[in-house]
Amino acid sequence: MATLAPLPIAAAVAPPHAGIARLRGFVTSLAELVSATRNEAEVLESGAKLLARLIAQDDWLPPAFAIPHPERYQQYLLHCDSRERFSVVSFVWAPGQGTPIHDHRVWGLVGVLRGAETSERFVRQGDGSLKPDGPAQLLRAGEVEVLSPRTGDIHRVGNARSDGPSVSIHVYGGNIGAVERATYALDGTAKRFVSGYASTVLPNLWDRSQTL
Ligand SMILES: [Fe+2]
Repeated sequence: MATLAPLPIAAAVAPPHAGIARLRGFVTSLAELVSATRNEAEVLESGAKLLARLIAQDDWLPPAFAIPHPERYQQYLLHCDSRERFSVVSFVWAPGQGTPIHDHRVWGLVGVLRGAETSERFVRQGDGSLKPDGPAQLLRAGEVEVLSPRTGDIHRVGNARSDGPSVSIHVYGGNIGAVERATYALDGTAKRFVSGYASTVLPNLWDRSQTL
């Protein structure tokens, strides 16, 4: 669960670097995609390709948005569409950190930028309890996983590394920090939550002076 932890001022005002153009290109392409179609399957298929292209190179994430916290994983908002049709978040995991079991209620794309992430999916049984939907999956740097409420979006994710941080880029079909959703116990008990974000500032995507 996210708690508010402001970025250090020096990090927040660091000058832009050329790599940020990759993130700008990604969010621009995603905005074009969700403007062109409202079909979730099409958004996920094309969005996964765009995300795979973004995470294929690791030179664009400003360092301030990759800082782990010793006690809890971090959800740094990188961009939210002005109509809240999608949001892009960097998840930063220190060793041993992971989420509780939770759902999303909007589509999602998970791409690993650095390190590796474990992903365990759950399905609801007849008595309402949850059981693992197969073995935990290992997502390595460069790999993308797709989530949809239509096909079941209850999962638990975390750092697969025990010797260092991992960073993954998550994309959601809404302003995920403001979506009311739930965490779950294995017996199926749901607890309402709204995640918010760990940061109060966003990367500056719009200063083009470094690339002109
Ligand atoms: Fe999730």
